Amino acid sequence: MGIAIITGASSGIGREFARSIDRAGEVDGYLLIARSREKLEALAAELSHPSELLASDLSQPEGVEALRAWLAERKPSVQYLINAAGFGVFGDYSEVSEADTVSMIDLNVKALVLITHMTIPYMPRGSHILEMGSASVFTPLPGFNIYASTKAFVYHYAQALYYEVRPRGIGVTVFCPGWVQTPFFARAENEASAGPRKKKPMLSVEYVVGCAMKSMRRGRLLCACNWYTRMQHVLSKILPNRVMIRMWLGMLDRKY
Ligand SMILES: NC(=O)c1ccc[n+]([C@@H]2O[C@H](COP(=O)([O-])OP(=O)(O)OC[C@H]3O[C@@H](n4cnc5c(N)ncnc54)[C@H](OP(=O)(O)O)[C@@H]3O)[C@@H](O)[C@H]2O)c1
Repeated sequence: MGIAIITGASSGIGREFARSIDRAGEVDGYLLIARSREKLEALAAELSHPSELLASDLSQPEGVEALRAWLAERKPSVQYLINAAGFGVFGDYSEVSEADTVSMIDLNVKALVLITHMTIPYMPRGSHILEMGSASVFTPLPGFNIYASTKAFVYHYAQALYYEVRPRGIGVTVFCPGWVQTPFFARAENEASAGPRKKKPMLSVEYVVGCAMKSMRRGRLLCACNWYTRMQHVLSKILPNRVMIRMWLGMLDRKY
């Protein structure tokens, strides 16, 4: 059957993908990747097939290279690549530290692209790549600029990749849910830069991952999940960015 490689598997959306793929019985092993080994071990203990763990910081070159070495050694057949590792920090250019700014770009963009490219050679016909976007891909977001910009890159990248790997029989889905109830916000919001005042509707991780699994099985390129995010997608095609940005600014506590 092959294995699933899941980045960001220690928490939230990535962990729920592991559980969901496991329940479906679609693979016979896992490579689970994140920084915290204990959380990966706890997940591995739940799953019904063997897991290998890579406790790596994917924002660092050596973290990504550890995966390249693992692939070269094991030569696995990869049924699913779920690129869920990622983080965001609210705040404007002066509030988000340079270290966080670079780390968001390195993890959300650079690692995601490198991991995808190094894994494709191990993916047979009928396999699937899920790239983690966000509802933030549809509009530039002052006060969440770097995060939204990294996800906009992923959105464009995944759409072109869909056509590039289609002749090899590999599917690509870019997953763009709105706010999901996960520990994401603990890292995203700090004293220097609180996030949007209204985060509704907040979706459950089980619900959004269920949507994404259906989209992957149907070979859909975009999974926006619920009506609210689909509406954002449609509006972003009709309305000028300045109007979309004003709507976003209306959700913030602060004024720009
Ligand atoms: N929650 C939302 O509202 C929402 C909405 C749309 C999109 N997303 C996207 O969904 C993805 C998953 O987020 P989540 O909501 O599930 O948040 P989460 O619970 O905080 O999960 C983030 C995952 O990424 C891993 N990670 C973070 N930094 C890493 C690094 N440097 N190296 C390796 N792994 C790292 C974390 O593991 P360790 O800390 O153990 O490394 C964790 O497993 C992200 O790409 C996020 O941008 C989230």
